[in-house]
Amino acid sequence: MRTIGVIGLGYVGLPLAVSFAREGCRVIGVEVDARKVQAIGEGRSYIEDVPDEELAAAGELLQASTRYAPLAEADAVLICVPTPLTRNREPDLGPLVEAGRELGRVLVAGQLVVLESTTYPGTTRERLLPLLEESGLSAGRDFHLAFSPERVDPGRTDFTMRNTPKVVGGLTEACAERARGLYEIVCDEVVPVSSPEAAELTKLLENVFRSVNIALVNELAMLTDRMGIDVWEVVEAAATKPYGFMRFEPGPGMGGHCLPVDPFYLAWRAREFDMPTEFVELAGKINQQMPYHCVAKAQRALNDRGLAVKGARIAVIGVSYKPGVGDTRESPALRIIELLSELGGEISYHDPHVAELADLGLSSRPLQDVLDDADLVLIVTAHPQVDHDAIARRARLVVDLRGITSRAHDTNVVRL
Ligand SMILES: NC(=O)c1ccc[n+]([C@@H]2O[C@H](COP(=O)([O-])OP(=O)(O)OC[C@H]3O[C@@H](n4cnc5c(N)ncnc54)[C@H](O)[C@@H]3O)[C@@H](O)[C@H]2O)c1
Repeated sequence: MRTIGVIGLGYVGLPLAVSFAREGCRVIGVEVDARKVQAIGEGRSYIEDVPDEELAAAGELLQASTRYAPLAEADAVLICVPTPLTRNREPDLGPLVEAGRELGRVLVAGQLVVLESTTYPGTTRERLLPLLEESGLSAGRDFHLAFSPERVDPGRTDFTMRNTPKVVGGLTEACAERARGLYEIVCDEVVPVSSPEAAELTKLLENVFRSVNIALVNELAMLTDRMGIDVWEVVEAAATKPYGFMRFEPGPGMGGHCLPVDPFYLAWRAREFDMPTEFVELAGKINQQMPYHCVAKAQRALNDRGLAVKGARIAVIGVSYKPGVGDTRESPALRIIELLSELGGEISYHDPHVAELADLGLSSRPLQDVLDDADLVLIVTAHPQVDHDAIARRARLVVDLRGITSRAHDTNVVRL
């Protein structure tokens, strides 16, 4: 039986651990958060994509603890720790360095180590490798080392670990071969590239591509607002072209761990090569403006009815960063709520996935309650189980930032 170690059991690590256990591998999980370790021990999942039943099905095959020592028994160790930004918006490799150092202390000859965390090109070779070699073992000779970006899209069911191709870049050809063999257990297609750097940059390209295209339609949404053209109608019409166009939706801005963060990893690395990544940074700038544009839109909608934001009861529908999940990291809804509160709005919210926003001192209220009170309903994130047309029928005034309500409600609905 193969034994797989997974360091960091969050949105990426836990589904990965469960995937390997499902295929009959023994999985040793290492997680610094003792509450998560306890939850796994009790069969309680804290990740929406991993139902309790799946965790229960993994049973004894998945053992989690806060200790690195058990990893010495693993054939392969996958690192899935966070790669956030510092206060100055620079790469914060703290968790990765910590994980690499701890792993270096227990590394044994013959193991394969794969980094899955999103990061700038060069991290695996320049930062992780030296920490692992503090073990006295040599990468490529005594142990194998590779980078393989995670492509999980939380909340998505049509593309899973199994049918999403996995890119792998090894330090040597043997490293890549070994990593390919590992991922073929859980994934139908593995795509080898020539180096860890190529694999690291592949992930950044994928995310920057989304960020730039979202920024493009967002800029268009700000322009169409002034021109009096419906941006959703234009996007829908353009999407009828069978080639050469890919549909991206405008919205209140970007959220989550990836899109608002990853481009900064690339921009930071690019500066070392005297190359400003202007496209990437411009996209970030435009997307960051969107919450302000959305607040101005809400302000105008109230103004048209003779109301001010100050004292208005505003119900925000959906506060997570994307539909169907409860993740609020970098969610534009948070910025929008802050801005409206600063203007004196009285904010309540409804989100079936987010029970409370502790930092803002708010808890989710039943949909009926928030609708009854509201001078303005602001649809920020369109969760699939919420009936937005029913909201548009009941509410006095709706600002729809997702183009989710039907055009039948044009008298009381203002769209982004
Ligand atoms: N969430 C996504 O949709 C997604 C998709 C693709 C790639 N990624 C990338 O994957 C990486 C992980 O992201 P995530 O969303 O799973 O983050 P996460 O915060 O949900 O999970 C990371 C886990 O690692 C743990 N951890 C931190 N330091 C540790 C250490 N030294 N040892 C052991 N455990 C440690 C944390 O407690 C946390 O539970 C990031 O680089 C992210 O950019 C995320």
